[in-house]
Amino acid sequence: MGNAGTAGNGGSEAGAGKAGTLFRVSPYMVIPSRVGGFSLYLKQDDNYVLYAEKGELFTDAHKERLSRLGVEHLYIKSEDYSFYARYVQDNIQDLLDDESIPVRERARAWNDATVAVAREAFDRNLPGNIDKRRFRKIQTLIAKSLKFLAREDALRELARFITEGHELFQHGIAVMVLTISVLGTFVREDADLMVSVGVGAMLHDIGKLELPQEIFRRRPDGLSQQEKDMIKSHPALGVGLCSSLPLPQETLQCILFHHEREDGTGYPSGATGELLPSYVKVLTLCNEYDNLTRGPAAGRKTLTPFEALTRIKQSRSAYDPEMLKRLIAVLSKADIAPFTV
Ligand SMILES: [Fe+2]
Ligand SMILES: [Fe+2]
Repeated sequence: MGNAGTAGNGGSEAGAGKAGTLFRVSPYMVIPSRVGGFSLYLKQDDNYVLYAEKGELFTDAHKERLSRLGVEHLYIKSEDYSFYARYVQDNIQDLLDDESIPVRERARAWNDATVAVAREAFDRNLPGNIDKRRFRKIQTLIAKSLKFLAREDALRELARFITEGHELFQHGIAVMVLTISVLGTFVREDADLMVSVGVGAMLHDIGKLELPQEIFRRRPDGLSQQEKDMIKSHPALGVGLCSSLPLPQETLQCILFHHEREDGTGYPSGATGELLPSYVKVLTLCNEYDNLTRGPAAGRKTLTPFEALTRIKQSRSAYDPEMLKRLIAVLSKADIAPFTV
């Protein structure tokens, strides 16, 4: 057993509770008969002691010993975090399907895996446009998540993670979860469509990465016409960024049309409701809901779920009332918003 040094409390990164140079993870994430590319540490008093060495096979004995000891947290060194994220991604289906793991812990694992994938997709420091490998990762993760996301209790637990943060990828994750949840109320059996739309929802704002970020922090009334036009170009820029990918039509439409409105007041095409596919209508609504509740965006305050839904209801001609009803039902069942708005 070695001493890994001490660590402070720290904030949280990638949803994994960072503690100085160590990340806190749940013992539930240790799957017997899997090898982790990371060392696991236990906290004893103020010291971190090695529990399982990198490359060691986790066994049932490991897991039993953890529960016998009543261990609530394990720790991973920050330099090993990417290996842990990879391990969770590779094993996400088994983790999400494991009914012996509390839903709250599964939600945390899902969030860890999704944040890692989304953060990478939105990372402007990586070379080139979003490549096929990163795109496939998102697709695979969403496909493996559908069953879990269909659970009411999962959304309730996920809400605590997905409502946090102001990064573009965090908005993308929340809009993806909401869009899939609402879409699941009427096309649940069409998994291909759910995945295509889920990917489009996750990446809908990716075109914003092509623009100077400061224009998104300024109040809309302080922007010049040219800057307003730049903002309105982000759906087309997003499609451009993804042009080298084998994008399904539905994913493309989600990125391009997520600012269209039922009454034709949206952009870039100004198409009215009868021309918009139902999944685009779901996305436009979930995007607006998340924008209003996430804040504080430039020039407007953060609204509560109830206030946001009330605001959306007031501008009803812009949104499909049937989809709004479905969104309210989804949020209510997950205890995020009251049943009547
Ligand atoms: Fe947008
Ligand atoms: Fe958005």
